[in-house]
Amino acid sequence: MNKIEYGTNVILIDEERGKRHMTKLREGLRFTTQYGFIEHDEIVKILDGGIITASKGVRYRVLKPTYIDYIMNIKRRAQIIYPKDTAAMLMEGDVYPGLNVLEAGVGQGALSIAILRALGGKGTLTSYELREDFAGDAARFIAEFYGEAPNHDIQVRNIYESIDGEYDRVLLDLPEPWQVVPHLEKGLRQGGLLVCYLPTILQVKSCVDALREAGYYDEISSFELIKRPWKVDGRSVRPEMWTFNHSAFLITCRKVEKMLPKVKPEKAETPEELEETYEMPEEE
Ligand SMILES: C[S@@+](CC[C@H](N)C(=O)[O-])C[C@H]1O[C@@H](n2cnc3c(N)ncnc32)[C@H](O)[C@@H]1O
Repeated sequence: MNKIEYGTNVILIDEERGKRHMTKLREGLRFTTQYGFIEHDEIVKILDGGIITASKGVRYRVLKPTYIDYIMNIKRRAQIIYPKDTAAMLMEGDVYPGLNVLEAGVGQGALSIAILRALGGKGTLTSYELREDFAGDAARFIAEFYGEAPNHDIQVRNIYESIDGEYDRVLLDLPEPWQVVPHLEKGLRQGGLLVCYLPTILQVKSCVDALREAGYYDEISSFELIKRPWKVDGRSVRPEMWTFNHSAFLITCRKVEKMLPKVKPEKAETPEELEETYEMPEEE
């Protein structure tokens, strides 16, 4: 289980600067670095978590990539959802095995991989992506990291135009998710959850307005998550000087039966009407 194999990616971290490199292992190839080189044939002899020394004497930690390692190291052409937000989308969106999930757009497939892992092979993931080249990239990344996914269907199409089928969960990473709201009237089942990922607060406003206007959504919540790393080194225990401050906002909500405004009983006007409405106390 913790053997490193040809054909898989490996993370190499140098002891000098702690820089992480991801490389795919192939028989007879070399990983070259400013510290010399390392033969791939030597890396496959090391276990996950082990150490290997480059030709100039610098040591490297050898690790199998985690989801975060993989996603942060792929050569990507589209922006991805950052793992802290992906985690929240799965949890707030209550994604679990057996559900039918719809996602758009796919981009490089970072969120798709996380959804497929949460489904654990049970249920389905349908992904709409406008660009054929991105759909192709995503399919390759998913196959490389997750493996075969017979429960995953990537469709090259515009979600602003339509949705086919009805889903338990819809997760959107699109510039204008409010254009999808009319299609969710049939596309998201009652009781189902919608999660949107939006970089700017003006997008959040437009989306929440559209959800409120549709009238089918309850528990609408808009928030952002900030990860604040701390330095813990001897007596120096403090927040890191640098922080990656903003990624995006999230909106979560639940599709419900439309609740019309409460009808208040009309007020009685005349004394006769008052007598009809209230029983008058008997005089002693
Ligand atoms: C930021 S990327 C998505 C990244 C992805 N969530 C990930 O984690 O890798 C946004 C994607 O939405 C796609 N897109 C934009 N408008 C779309 C639409 N109307 N229908 C389907 N996909 C769309 C874009 O082509 C792009 O690939």
